[in-house]
Parts: sequence; C-alpha cells; structure tokens
Amino acid sequence: MKITLRSGRRSVAGLPGKLKVVGVVSGKLTEAGQELDAAYSGLLSQALKASRFRGEEGEFRLVMAGEAFVGLLGLGSKRGVSADRVREAGARVAKEALRLGVREVAVENFFADRLGKEAASYALAEGLYLGSYRFDRYKSEARPVRVRYWIAKGRGRVVEEARVLAEATAYARDLANEPPNVLTPEALAAEAERLAGEHGFEVRVLGPEEIEALGMGAFLAVARGSAHPPRLVHLVYRPEAPRRRVALVGKGLCFDTGGYSLKPTESMRHMKADMAGAAAVLGTFRALAELRPPVEVHGVIAAAENKISGGAYVVDEVVRTMSGKTVEVANTDAEGRLTLADALAYAGREAPDAIVSIATLTGSSVVALGRKVAALFATDDRLAGALLEAADAEGEKLWRMPLERSYRKLLVSDVADLKNVGSREGGAIQAALFLAEFVRDPFAHLDIAGPAFQREGWELGPAGASGYGVRTLVRWLASR
Ligand code: BES
Ligand code: MN
Ligand code: ZN
Repeated sequence: MKITLRSGRRSVAGLPGKLKVVGVVSGKLTEAGQELDAAYSGLLSQALKASRFRGEEGEFRLVMAGEAFVGLLGLGSKRGVSADRVREAGARVAKEALRLGVREVAVENFFADRLGKEAASYALAEGLYLGSYRFDRYKSEARPVRVRYWIAKGRGRVVEEARVLAEATAYARDLANEPPNVLTPEALAAEAERLAGEHGFEVRVLGPEEIEALGMGAFLAVARGSAHPPRLVHLVYRPEAPRRRVALVGKGLCFDTGGYSLKPTESMRHMKADMAGAAAVLGTFRALAELRPPVEVHGVIAAAENKISGGAYVVDEVVRTMSGKTVEVANTDAEGRLTLADALAYAGREAPDAIVSIATLTGSSVVALGRKVAALFATDDRLAGALLEAADAEGEKLWRMPLERSYRKLLVSDVADLKNVGSREGGAIQAALFLAEFVRDPFAHLDIAGPAFQREGWELGPAGASGYGVRTLVRWLASR
C-alpha cells in the first residue's frame, strides 16, 4: 500500500478526487457538505432526505454525482467531539476508499471548527494512514494499491508528523503479523540490526554464550526448549545533548506455546504476536529516527521462543537471574516475566532516568480490561501521568492499575527468592510486581496483552496486530 496525503487549501468541492467525503452531524450536512451539495445542485441533501441515513457515527453512504462518488460519513452528534472520533472517521474513509478502489480522495477536515485545524488534520491523517494498513505480503493475489488523499483546508506540518507515527505503527504491525516460521528470534535480531544500519543507531546483538556470560539464567531457561537460539538486542538512539535518558524493554517471544505448561490450541492461536512489545520498541525507534527528540533511548529486547523439547525447561526448576535473585518456575507459561527479569536488569546497567517495559504479559489484563485497553503499572506518579497523557493524545487506551504491595508475598517461593506465578486472582498485578523486583525506580510497565492483537477488523485497522504502544511511546519521548 502506498498512501500519499496532502493538505489542500481548498474545500472538498475544489479539490481533486474521484471520491469526495463530507460529514453528516446530527442528521445534517456539515458546512463543507453543504458547500459540496450546492456544487452538485442539491443532490446530497436530496439523497439525505430520500434515505433513512441518520448519520450515526461510522455510518457511510455513497451517492453518485456524475463522474464522482460522494461519501457521506456519519459523525454522530456535536456532543463530546474528540480527536478519537476524527481518527476513527479517517480510518473509516480509508477502508471505504480501498473497497471502492479509488485512487484519489478528497476529505473534509472533520470537526476542524471544534478541535482546531491542526488537531483535526492530525487525527484525520493518522486515521487515514492507520485505516489503510493491510498485511498482504503472503496473499498471492495482492496487487499494489496507491491512494492519494487530500485533507481539505488541512495543515501540512501535522500531517507529516501523523505519517511518521502511523508508519512506525504499521512497521510494528508488520513485525507482529509475521508468521513465527519467518520471524524467529534470529530474524527479529537481524531486523533490529538492519533498522540500526538504516538509521544510524548503535546496536549490539548477543547470542546464547554471551547471554550466559551475563548470567541471564531466567531468559536462557525459557529459550532452551527451542531449536532457534535466543538473541538479546540492545539498540541505542543517542542524540547530541540528551535532556534525559530512558530505556524501553519489549517482550520478544516470537512464539509462546506455554512450554510444558502447554496452552490449549485456542489460547495458543496468535501467539506469534507475543513479541508485540518488542515490535512496539522497534517501531518507536523507527519514529525516533525521523523525529530526533533530545532524549537518549535504549531499546532492549530478549528474543526467544517458548517451546517444548527434551531440553525444555520444566516447572520446579530454579533459575538464577542476572540480578542474582533466584526464581522457582511454577508455570512455564509465565515465561514473559522470566525473560523480562533479565532484560530489565540489563537495561538497569545503563542507569537510565526511567525504564518502561511493554509486554503481552498476562491473560489476566485481558480479563480485566478487554481487547482495547492496556494496563499501566508505575512506581512513579509523574511517569504514569506522562504516559497516560501521551496515550490519551494518541487515542491509545491505557488505564492505570495498582502495584498493590501486599500481593508481593504471593510471589514468595519455598525454595527460591521468588516464584514466577502466585495466585490466579490479580494476575496482571502480580506479574507487574514480579518485574518491579528487577528494576530501580522510576519504572513503568504496559501490559498490552489485550490490545496488541485484534481478532477482527476494528476502528483503526484490519484483524491482526495493532501496533499498540508505538504512538504512546513516541508521543511520550517527543514531548518536553
Ligand atoms: N503471552 C501470554 C499472555 C497473553 C495472553 C498474551 C493472551 C496475549 C493474549 C503469557 O506468556 C502467558 O501465558 N501468561 C499466563 C500467565 C499465567 C500462567 C500466570 C496467562 O496469562 O495465562
Ligand atoms: Mn506464556
Ligand atoms: Zn507469553
């Protein structure tokens, strides 16, 4: 898919495009819609009157106007107008444009009067890009599609910023959508090296011997059952005079069978995306290359597969982490926190001002928040606030959950310092508490098990990986 997006000075009526899209708010044409209606001698208002189209949010109607199509997009009512609604409207337009196979589309800058031209164009542009995403590299019939969008009376500068964030998101989606026979730990590390080479990041990739030399016994235990050896990836974006230094740690399980605590088939489905945290970190780096904020960023990924073989780790094993703490394995399916324990300790060696982990960590977070909202845990209110603000600005839904200290005792083992699983209740909290054992403050953790992968087409994209987290992390790093 090749999308180009321009902002035009003119109104929808004056811009090129086989498809022109205007909004319907509370059952009435918007101002831009009325202007277009006049240009087509009242065709649109007639069509509105003749049909039952009420302009409910997301409703779409096509009207033939001579050579052109006019799309009437329901935007709901004027109440509670938000950038989120505009972003979703943009994605809806992209979906319809693809369905129609048009090459050039002019779109009203929805709710520009309410949100301001900049904010409106930014959200619309993001939606158009995100909604255009398709993962079709394994479809024999896929043909390259080119679409050019014009945002009427839009703002070019923010459109460019939206492109950077959306392309970084698409890149993360691509990585998490790759099948596990292609995106092995070695392939993920090779991709990180390629990305570093392309953009001038520092990169270090460690194999099993070096990982062992660092004392990463937990990470190695998880990786042991797979024929594909693990890789530890360390990327650095180092601007000239950084105002702060942060580390991003992404869970990089290229496939999670559960190990001997084997997942049932249905739960194993889509576990190729158990490296979505790692993908979000790589996506973030891709955006850093273009935005160049004055923040030093370390990206750490412990890439492995959780599989079964004669040598695979089993429950009751005790492993020694890089931090020196020992962990009793109570469940081989709680592998993410074991790999992250070592990756977090490694990141801590850089003594960053903040560490943020992002991981498809627990089914428990999905039970709590569903498939659209991620869980945030933080040892520091300011860090939590900054991440929540970034997520909100980008329409990535994030909800803070407590690091309830009294649950810490559930993780105490009879034979080791910790065990990797406590009780079932409050599982996401216990997982976050486990991670916090391996870092100094300030630390934040995003459990993206819910939103990382969508089983069906959704507001901002098709079924598959969502790229969740990229936009939040980039917005956070690029602010202040
Ligand atoms: N990768 C899974 C978590 C997950 C679940 C991601 C659903 C995406 C969708 C993780 O490794 C896992 O298996 N967690 C276990 C932990 C349990 C054994 C304590 C879980 O949540 O069931
Ligand atoms: Mn697991
Ligand atoms: Zn997992």
